[in-house]
Amino acid sequence: MSTKKPNCMSIILVLVLVLCQCIRLKAQLQVGFYAASCSMAEFIVKDEVRKGVSSDKGMAAGLLRMHFHDCFVRGCDGSVLIDSTPSNTAEKDSPANNPSLRGYEIIDNAKARLEASCKGVVSCADILAFAARDSVEMTGGLGYDVPGGRRDGRISLASDIQANLPAPTLNVNQLTQMFANKGFTQEEMVTLSGGHTIGRSHCTSFSARLYSFNTTVSQDPSLDPTYATQLKQQCPQGSTNPNLVVPMDTLSPSTTDVGYYRDILANKGLFGSDQTLMTNTATANQVNQNVRNPMLWSRNFADAMVKMGRIGVLTGNNGEIRAKCRVINS
Ligand code: HEM
Ligand SMILES: *[C@@H]1O[C@H](CO)[C@@H](O)[C@H](O)[C@H]1NC(C)=O
Repeated sequence: MSTKKPNCMSIILVLVLVLCQCIRLKAQLQVGFYAASCSMAEFIVKDEVRKGVSSDKGMAAGLLRMHFHDCFVRGCDGSVLIDSTPSNTAEKDSPANNPSLRGYEIIDNAKARLEASCKGVVSCADILAFAARDSVEMTGGLGYDVPGGRRDGRISLASDIQANLPAPTLNVNQLTQMFANKGFTQEEMVTLSGGHTIGRSHCTSFSARLYSFNTTVSQDPSLDPTYATQLKQQCPQGSTNPNLVVPMDTLSPSTTDVGYYRDILANKGLFGSDQTLMTNTATANQVNQNVRNPMLWSRNFADAMVKMGRIGVLTGNNGEIRAKCRVINS
């Protein structure tokens, strides 16, 4: 009948558990993270994205891709936004990002307004995560809650890019591996690839499929021949013009829809890494399913974006809140 001692022990145990939980929660991302500290944060970001996208609708694609490139390299820590210095070539100056990555000015504008109204509170990594969501929403995709609380990293190395970002020449197994390295299933890889439903590509990213596929055939046989002819007109062989670009989604390049998957079914995936999704039974089935059920894809995409936004985040007392997104705090 000695219940007193165990009771006391359990109370202490509960207190310890509660304390641990509080510490853990504090260091986790949370929807509405800035509600008390900077209640206008997400509105200000959205307003700047709206301005940027209304003057150039391609900016939505730029910001979506920028968040992906941030998260896959050193986690979603705003490292993609840091400028190179005389002693360091940053991520943004790797060939995968320069000159193709766009939208930096929109992040700068949002950051300037946020610093003016809530100095030192909102991280660049969060601004980018919110902006990517806004971009999806403004192009007709499903909006979703973005948990906030990421903090900014202090390291950005161009040399980190190659091992972490997929190349457009990868096959389905290589893509699956690359996304598995970041904690994603093959299904989520196919879902996230749907990001290519908006935006454009420089000719240089895929022209090998048109002119120098391999030693036996010059043109990738998995590419629809009529589409290939059209692409050759848009991207002349040996052109040195770095400004030549083509839309990735042939019919609806500014709308977040399932056009990307429709194109793949028609052998009009722009990159080898897009069309390769038809070479595996499971991924090909998923491409078909997405075309038939756009709402399903939209929901899965939103969920996968939230998951992507959690990769390797700095929280709590780790990292910093950068004053300017292009430079680490001194
Ligand atoms: C599956 C592996 C992926 C590969 C190999 C890949 C590769 C590429 C390449 C080569 C470009 C064209 C860059 C240029 O030359 O201008 C591009 C553009 C783009 N990518 Fe990806 N990507 C992948 C996944 C993703 C994911 C997961 C997202 C977002 C969820 C994404 C979003 C975009 C967007 C929106 C653009 C257009 C950017 C613009 O118009 O400025 N990509 N991607
Ligand atoms: C070139 O590609 C074609 C079509 O995919 C394939 O049949 C052929 O084996 C490839 N040749 C080489 C040398 O890889």
